[in-house]
Amino acid sequence: MKKFSVTIAGGGSTYTPGIVMLLLNNLDKFPLRQLKLYDNDKERQSIVADACEIIVKEMAPEVNFTATTDPEEGFSDIDFVMAHIRVGKYAMREKDEKIPLKYNVVGQETCGPGGIAYGMRSITGVLEILDYMEKYSPEAWMLNYSNPAAIVAEATRRLRPNSKILNICDMPIGIESRMAKAIGLESRKEMDVRYYGLNHFGWWTDIRDKEGNDLKPRIIEYVKEHGYDVGQHSDTSWQHTFQVAKDVQALDSETLPNTYLKYYLYGNQEVAHSDKNHTRANMVMEGREKNIFSECNRIVEAGTSEGTTIKAGDHASYIVDLARAIAYNRHERMLLIVENKGAINNFDETAMVEVPCLVGANGYEPLTQGNIPQFQKGLMEQQAAVEKLVVEAYIEKSYQKLWQALTVSKTVPNAEVAKQILDELMEANKEFWPELH
Ligand code: NAD
Ligand code: G6P
Ligand code: MN
Repeated sequence: MKKFSVTIAGGGSTYTPGIVMLLLNNLDKFPLRQLKLYDNDKERQSIVADACEIIVKEMAPEVNFTATTDPEEGFSDIDFVMAHIRVGKYAMREKDEKIPLKYNVVGQETCGPGGIAYGMRSITGVLEILDYMEKYSPEAWMLNYSNPAAIVAEATRRLRPNSKILNICDMPIGIESRMAKAIGLESRKEMDVRYYGLNHFGWWTDIRDKEGNDLKPRIIEYVKEHGYDVGQHSDTSWQHTFQVAKDVQALDSETLPNTYLKYYLYGNQEVAHSDKNHTRANMVMEGREKNIFSECNRIVEAGTSEGTTIKAGDHASYIVDLARAIAYNRHERMLLIVENKGAINNFDETAMVEVPCLVGANGYEPLTQGNIPQFQKGLMEQQAAVEKLVVEAYIEKSYQKLWQALTVSKTVPNAEVAKQILDELMEANKEFWPELH
């Protein structure tokens, strides 16, 4: 059995230890000979890498583990790059969230002005690692889940159309797990779904078990009452998100929505529910980042990972599924963010949409979802325009296009507020955005 070589780009991410654990737990299904961490922040990465080194040594000493900030070392001799970088880190996420909120506009990592600002930062970072991969390992695949995935995907479509990059998101997977639990199934893998939309902006239209029985009515019945809240532990902000999914679902009784639609459809409530001085970035820094990093430090001090609280990031198992689908030509059905090209019949062919695809050794084949109704089509056209305008603004270094992008966003009330937010975001992002004129 061939053994694979994998680089995790964004090695210093809070998700890295969970993904390393997951990979080590799946060596029988996806054997590794080499695992590398790559980051451009040596200090941050070493917190994670020093602990991962101990974990790998103890769980799979045959896997060659390294961590580096040198692109050549990081990207040579690899089969897959799993990319989860955050350009500007949590310090900039905090600004993405807090600046729009000052104007009573949704302050969110991937939606609205915050997502646009993050997109303008991310494009450069993702293109950089994609270019490193192609230079040092031209045959490799990049599995990208760096956010904002919608904008990053549109940017790679425009600027690296022939690159071997697959863009994927874990939100549909997380929601499907909740749907499965809601109706008493063991696993979301017992369901086959039809879904269409943009990233963080989509709907399920059909959900069946493996015998073809329609599960959707039962799931809808549950969601109408509880949203996607299945009593499973999650922090309070996520719990709120899963609960209010029922209000999002109420807008279209035939489909099941992605949770992120709440920011577009109930923006005012989201703003009212936010603390302008303490946003999700603060919660993540005080929660996940603190917990993961202190556990990494503990492992390093103890010199062993025995008794560690770091768990395989099961929510991330889709990344291993994706790598295996390519490695073993499995033709597995997965939701990916891909160029539409008719998958949604009555929608812009060039938009990056999220639809089920068959994934195999030569990449993906989208499954056509037919025509979509006016409600979804209208919303998606508006949002796809935002994403395209951001990428045009990036390419043309155009202030005007970025102002248009913010203005088109359903989260922003008018062009005047769009301009005020843009000017503040531009000032805050000087170090990261191309200079606009
Ligand atoms: P994090 O800040 O903990 O980690 C990101 C790491 O990326 C940092 O160590 C940082 O130094 C590094 N980095 C930044 N710019 C880089 C560059 N140009 N080259 C190399 N490394 C760089 O962030 P996190 O919360 O762990 O999330 C990581 C990423 O994964 C984010 O983009 C997040 O939005 C994304 N994410 C996506 C999904 C999805 O559904 N697609 C799910 C979870 C997380
Ligand atoms: C989901 C989304 C990701 C997003 C993450 C944020 O998993 O699919 O795209 O990055 O949530 O979670 P956080 O806990 O960092 O707010
Ligand atoms: Mn996502």
